[in-house]
Amino acid sequence: MSITNVRPYKGIYPSLGSDIYIDNSAVLVGDITLSDDVSIWPLVAARGDVNTITIGARTNIQDGSVLHVTRKSSSNPQGNPLIIGDDVTVGHKCMLHGCQLGNRILVGMGAIIMDGVIVEDDVFIGAGSLVPPNKTLVSGYLYVGNPVKQVRPLKESEAAFLKQSAINYVELKNDYLSE
Ligand SMILES: CC(C)(COP(=O)(O)OP(=O)(O)OC[C@H]1O[C@@H](n2cnc3c(N)ncnc32)[C@H](O)[C@@H]1OP(=O)(O)O)[C@@H](O)C(=O)NCCC(=O)NCCS
Repeated sequence: MSITNVRPYKGIYPSLGSDIYIDNSAVLVGDITLSDDVSIWPLVAARGDVNTITIGARTNIQDGSVLHVTRKSSSNPQGNPLIIGDDVTVGHKCMLHGCQLGNRILVGMGAIIMDGVIVEDDVFIGAGSLVPPNKTLVSGYLYVGNPVKQVRPLKESEAAFLKQSAINYVELKNDYLSE
């Protein structure tokens, strides 16, 4: 077995887009697809073994976050892949498990998002929130709490920040790539 932080499982290697940044301490295993300009920060663990992980363009997965999936079974024929859209910010130490996130979403630090959850485009999830299985978070709202509750529509500044946060992280990873 070769020891490298980006490695195959059952012969399937992570597929890497252009201009991506993966910190040396992050671990990516198996059937994972990273689109262009994705950044993966220190100590992220992403395991595409019993299902697939897809990460959209310009999305950043911050330090210590854990990404995993659920296998296919007779009661759940597709299992739960993890699908993350474009321009998503996943804050420090988040847990994303078998859920589906749209575009321009901010997942606050320490949030936990469980199997079957759908987060629509343009959603802000507060730090430390827990999103229980199979819940849908609708577009344009702030959600916080454990279990998560819809708090209010996003302010204009917050909605604009969703995209800006992704831009900031693309710039930051470009700096790291040029080190
Ligand atoms: C939720 C958040 C956006 C603040 O929203 P806000 O509407 O400005 O909230 P306020 O600071 O005015 O606080 C309003 C209430 O919500 C509470 N609150 C704030 N953030 C909360 C959170 N994450 N979870 C639960 N309650 C929260 C406050 O304590 C306050 O409660 P009170 O009315 O009983 O005093 C912010 O606290 C947050 O969680 N941001 C995420 C930051 C992050 O993780 N970024 C990614 C890392 S790079």
